[in-house]
Amino acid sequence: MGVLRVDPVDGLSGELRVPSDKSLTHRAILLAGVSDRAVRVGATLDSADTAATLGAIEACGVVIEGDLGDELVISGAGLRGLRPAPAIDCANAGTLMRLLPGLLVGQQADRIVLDGDDSLRGRPMGRIATPLRAMGASIWTAPGGTPPLAVSGGAPLQAVEHDLPVASAQVKSCLLLAGLFAEGRTVVREPAPSRDHTERMLRAAGVPLEEVERGVAITGPVEGIALPDLDVPGDPSSAAPLAAAAVLRADPEVRLRGVNLNPLRTGLFRVLERMGAPVRIEPAQEVAGEPAGDVVVGRADRLHATEVAPEEVPSLIDELPLVGLLGALAAGTTRVHGAAELRVKESDRIAAVVGALRALGVKAEEHEDGFSVTGAPRLLGGEVASGGDHRMAMLGAVAGLASLEGVRVSGFEAVEVSYPGFARDLARLAAVGA
Ligand code: S3P
Repeated sequence: MGVLRVDPVDGLSGELRVPSDKSLTHRAILLAGVSDRAVRVGATLDSADTAATLGAIEACGVVIEGDLGDELVISGAGLRGLRPAPAIDCANAGTLMRLLPGLLVGQQADRIVLDGDDSLRGRPMGRIATPLRAMGASIWTAPGGTPPLAVSGGAPLQAVEHDLPVASAQVKSCLLLAGLFAEGRTVVREPAPSRDHTERMLRAAGVPLEEVERGVAITGPVEGIALPDLDVPGDPSSAAPLAAAAVLRADPEVRLRGVNLNPLRTGLFRVLERMGAPVRIEPAQEVAGEPAGDVVVGRADRLHATEVAPEEVPSLIDELPLVGLLGALAAGTTRVHGAAELRVKESDRIAAVVGALRALGVKAEEHEDGFSVTGAPRLLGGEVASGGDHRMAMLGAVAGLASLEGVRVSGFEAVEVSYPGFARDLARLAAVGA
């Protein structure tokens, strides 16, 4: 297992373009795969998760030229033209396993089995299987509602209104995709808005979606979609660990270029400001129908503890572990509420954050729906185990930079899932500042 030792650093500076958006890369590959025409997707993310999606759509008979990390030309099999292999490996990618069934239910295909790694095998899939069944689809899960999944396509689908108990872009997206094939108006409502990338891309592909109270509606069946060529902007969730590192150690500042600034993704930057960090957002041109621009982060002289409220949670769901880390160096007690969803991410991120912070000498408590962290002027250091979770591996590395004695991150290779060049980029910012 890969170990990364990160020593304390003072004075991060410089600029870089963060890796391309993972959520958008997954969606662009899937929607281009069912487009009526070939689609050029530039600046795709090269990572284990997006490689799984590329492999999955190829396993559905879609022809792709080019390489991830660069430009892909995706042939486009048409909305009902996928020819899936009997088994598809989703690796660690929850977004793939939850979105792809939304397309598979509309294909003439019998019993496609979707499986993944041990972490993915622990993640709840009943949240897509139950509403898809209500629409008339044939989908099975393992006992307990976890993967492997089996999906048969081609049954007539009826539109249904879905009220999601927990905001989830993955579930919403799956149901909107299934809504492309269903007779009537499929409505998806959420308790708080989750990221709307699928909606933006479907609209760009010529599918009219309606806004409804607390949700979105699609009327089907839709004949075909035509996704325009697009370039993927940078991922705010990959900008996040670098921004957190800058808050703790920049001198004078770090510029993160070309970041997706969709307001449903940028909750962390608002929380950083609230905690007293100098954050400047410099919007530029839209990229792929998403607002985009630079995020410039300076060191906070003094961090204040904060409370993250349930309605904010979807806008920084993947960044909440970093809020815990920053809370460890903030004056007061930082508390995250209404984030029980963290328990079913790539790891149980409530237990993982509290465990990692305690291992570094921090006072932290688990709550059923979040955690609280009591700040101190200094962070000792020690060992953090990623537990196979990419976001925890990056948290460990950022903690190392800001610690007294350094941090050893075991299982660091988990970063391959979303940000394979993370250690190199962090070292680059440290070298510029040295
Ligand atoms: C994602 C949505 C989020 C997020 C995940 C990626 C997406 O999950 O945690 O990493 O691409 O739609 P939920 O919206 O299901 O909480």
